[in-house]
Amino acid sequence: MVDIGVLVSGNGTNLQSIIDSIEAKRCSARIKVVISNRTDAFALKRAEKHGIPTEVIKKEDYPSREAYDAELAERLKKHGVGLVVLAGFMRIITRPMLDAFHMRIINIHPALLPSFPGLDVQKKAIEHGVKFSGCTVHFVDEGVDSGPIIIQAVVPVKDDDTVESLSKRILDEEHRIYPEAIHLIGEGRLSVIGRRVIVKDGPEPTGALENPPVSIFADKTRP
Ligand code: GAR
Repeated sequence: MVDIGVLVSGNGTNLQSIIDSIEAKRCSARIKVVISNRTDAFALKRAEKHGIPTEVIKKEDYPSREAYDAELAERLKKHGVGLVVLAGFMRIITRPMLDAFHMRIINIHPALLPSFPGLDVQKKAIEHGVKFSGCTVHFVDEGVDSGPIIIQAVVPVKDDDTVESLSKRILDEEHRIYPEAIHLIGEGRLSVIGRRVIVKDGPEPTGALENPPVSIFADKTRP
């Protein structure tokens, strides 16, 4: 069991999936606090509905990113947080947070890292013409979306995809894998060796994917 603090900036559908997974006893965690940098984040309402304490820390009230992050770390510690979960938190994490929660900050990103770090990544994936995209849960380090990868899920990119349709397909997978990653940490199942994150007693991954699924054409030509 791990005590988490969830950081949000927007809608909070990932927060919702974590709350639902905890309530369904599929995720070994307790949410101690939800903190937003925006007063209007709908995620705050989701937390309140479930009786979870919320706080807002506005960037205008701090002279620098580092001062903001020092306050953030302080508040998270005050709530007894052991793992910081970034769930659509649209700020770069700086040294005071990284020092206070070394390898205890995780993020979810809507692309298959290390491809497409940063912003607007679903659009970039379509424009680049990749045949698969997906989402990645990773530990946060000093870079942008660059820390050790915990879990990834893959989705196909379809010929007629829009940013909205691809984002929705990816988001559905985010909702599945983020609670799983938190559960693995809560159960003490992860070890980090260099950049590699190993799941103790994890199942063997299976299968290979192909897009476009050319083997379907091959099957049709069989006698
Ligand atoms: C999610 O797609 C998440 O992966 C992305 O923001 C969205 C938040 O949705 N995060 C990033 O792009 C971080 N770089 P939500 O508020 O509904 O959970």
